[in-house]
Amino acid sequence: MRVSVHGCGYLGAVHAAALARLGHEVVGIDVDPARVAALAEGRAPFFEPGLAALLAEPGGAGSLTFSTDVAHAGVADVHFLCVGTPQSAGSGVADLQQLEAALAALRPHLRPGSVVVGKSTVPVGTAARLATDLPDGVRLAWNPEFLREGHAVADTLHPDRLVYGVPDDGDALVERLDAVYARLLDDGVPRLVTDLATAELAKVAANAFLATKISFANAVAEVCEAAGGDAVALVGTMALDRRIGGEYLGVGLGFGGGCLPKDIRAFAARARELGVGPAVSFLDEVDAINDRCRERAVVLARTACGGSLAGRRVAVLGAAFKPDSDDVRSSPALALARALAAEGADVVVTDPQALALAQAAAPELGYAADAREAATGADVVVLATEWDEYRDLDPGALADVVRSPRLVDARNAVDGARWRAAGWDVRSLGVAAPRAARPQSSSPTA
Ligand code: UDX
Repeated sequence: MRVSVHGCGYLGAVHAAALARLGHEVVGIDVDPARVAALAEGRAPFFEPGLAALLAEPGGAGSLTFSTDVAHAGVADVHFLCVGTPQSAGSGVADLQQLEAALAALRPHLRPGSVVVGKSTVPVGTAARLATDLPDGVRLAWNPEFLREGHAVADTLHPDRLVYGVPDDGDALVERLDAVYARLLDDGVPRLVTDLATAELAKVAANAFLATKISFANAVAEVCEAAGGDAVALVGTMALDRRIGGEYLGVGLGFGGGCLPKDIRAFAARARELGVGPAVSFLDEVDAINDRCRERAVVLARTACGGSLAGRRVAVLGAAFKPDSDDVRSSPALALARALAAEGADVVVTDPQALALAQAAAPELGYAADAREAATGADVVVLATEWDEYRDLDPGALADVVRSPRLVDARNAVDGARWRAAGWDVRSLGVAAPRAARPQSSSPTA
């Protein structure tokens, strides 16, 4: 099929490349010439494992081109909208300007029979509104995307589910989407057909649930800190309950990134507009628990340094909002680094992939090329993003370069016993006191 993809960010670039892999003739459109130039040369404009390989070699019968000129989308029969819907400045409401602009630019190139498919995360009701204002014979469906950064290629080519939101008389739209995703359907990926509103809500509801799960773990972590428990061991007991499961129960610095924080705020804002604000007012608490994770990590670092961070050198390992990404949007690690600097600490941040973006976002902080350089002369080392290379650090070698061997493990990422054996004072979120040596549990997850 001939397909166009509008917006070539984390979502659109991967979607375009994946559709080419699935055998389609794809043109990706973006307003950013530098991004289009990189993609056209087969270079990923951001760090996303597997994307460069997919761009270089979509494989199969598909083809992949990129352009800033939306007229190139005119040849396509199906047009995917993948632009960003960030949080509006000063409120939780989603900013739909990019979406409106992309659709307005595409409009003259639509013709009877064209199908527009929204993938961007939008407030419920947006699709129905957009559908009423399309040229004659043009139909609209909503097909939310659930990919995780860092796993975007695999999540797109092997999704847990496909959701098609279509109007009542949308059989032809379903057929068209089935043709786009034929190979995934052949692989047995479940496909759920809903109305437009349910499809829009499918995305925000899933993200709100995940954020709530993370904040639940961090809420019990606060209780453990006060009561003398160990939250990591506690969630280990919960994770073995098959009804709960262990995913998104990590005790630590909490969630960030381009989706979860803004999605829960937009969901709550839209619910208030609809007169059902109280139904999701708990999401304000989910947000507040998440923010407190950073404050509690500052307290751990301050306490480790004897009560004040003023003039102390702090090495922050990690700037990305999570490992395997260079994205620093709403990054808990970068927020923590800023909060430490606000207490007068001399903060040096490092990250394997996100250094350039971190430096652009927070130029007031110090930066180092790697963990060893960041930790040199440090009074305390704070592990803020759980990259494998930080989990695997040699605590003995690092102890040789720091001023004082103190570690705040804000992601519960390292083997504390190993670091203590190398002479480190290790403090973690959710654990009242250093974990004593104790008999091994028989379950590996406990
Ligand atoms: C998320 C959703 O997972 C995805 O389905 C949706 O389409 C987009 O939003 P992403 O933003 O890439 O994807 O991040 P994700 O991997 O879900 O992690 C979100 C944040 O939660 C990260 O900051 C991560 O560090 C944090 N997290 C995750 C925790 O703090 N604890 C956990 O147990 C899991």
